[in-house]
Amino acid sequence: MTSEMPDPSAPILLFDSGVGGLTVLAELRRILPQAPVIYAADNAGLPYGEKSEAQIAARVAGLLGRMTERLSLRLACIACNTASTIALDAVREVLEIPIVGTVPAIKPAAALTTTGVIGLIGTEATIRQGYVDRLEARFAADKTLLRLAAPELVSAAEARLRGEPVDSMAIGLTAQALRAMPGGQAIDTVVLACTHFPLLLPELAAAFGPGVQFVHGAEGIARRIASLTEGQQFSREQRDLALFTKDGEAIEAYRDGLAKYGLTRIETF
Ligand code: DGL
Repeated sequence: MTSEMPDPSAPILLFDSGVGGLTVLAELRRILPQAPVIYAADNAGLPYGEKSEAQIAARVAGLLGRMTERLSLRLACIACNTASTIALDAVREVLEIPIVGTVPAIKPAAALTTTGVIGLIGTEATIRQGYVDRLEARFAADKTLLRLAAPELVSAAEARLRGEPVDSMAIGLTAQALRAMPGGQAIDTVVLACTHFPLLLPELAAAFGPGVQFVHGAEGIARRIASLTEGQQFSREQRDLALFTKDGEAIEAYRDGLAKYGLTRIETF
């Protein structure tokens, strides 16, 4: 890790497979409005949740390596639970800039639950990770943690950003499936272990009903980035840039949604 002061115009990279990392961008903008930011979506690889560990690790390490070199980054944040729980250590080992990861918010959920039953929804790949087993053992050993893969919610969140109607049926079925697991009726806290899911908070709150609180990492990640860049100079000379790995019409559909997050320059990487 380098100890030199970065160039004031060196950007912070937020990286996800799709639009999930925007939930981190929104928090980052609140606390570091002056920081130059590049938002990168590996839409050519979306969804990560259905890929193997080897595929995800190779994609993420390869892309982040190329982006770090070409974009002169000051810090990269893997704003994706799937990529972080699989590739964070490997990426940290090969890159020389600080890397911030996103891991399921099991610790804060364990502190909040009063019934002792926590639900966790994430991608198929995230919920099977040893990383999640270790968080559970460390912070929620005396709680019940019920994990469920909810890949339909990734597509629903992507649809929201494209301005399309959200599939509330899929969200309702996710809530029902979690409630139907042994002990599920007592869930009072749900970990949103995928950065896409906070984009569906109103629908999730309606589906789970009153008395359920949702926990995710966006604010904590933004604070971590702020603390790692404390004392550094920022010069935000250009409009924020959004990079997609797959070109074409697909990107057009996201233009208005991205503009709401201040991303009005869109390019392919
Ligand atoms: N946003 C990603 C996460 O946090 C996953 C979406 C995908 O399956 O690509 O896990």
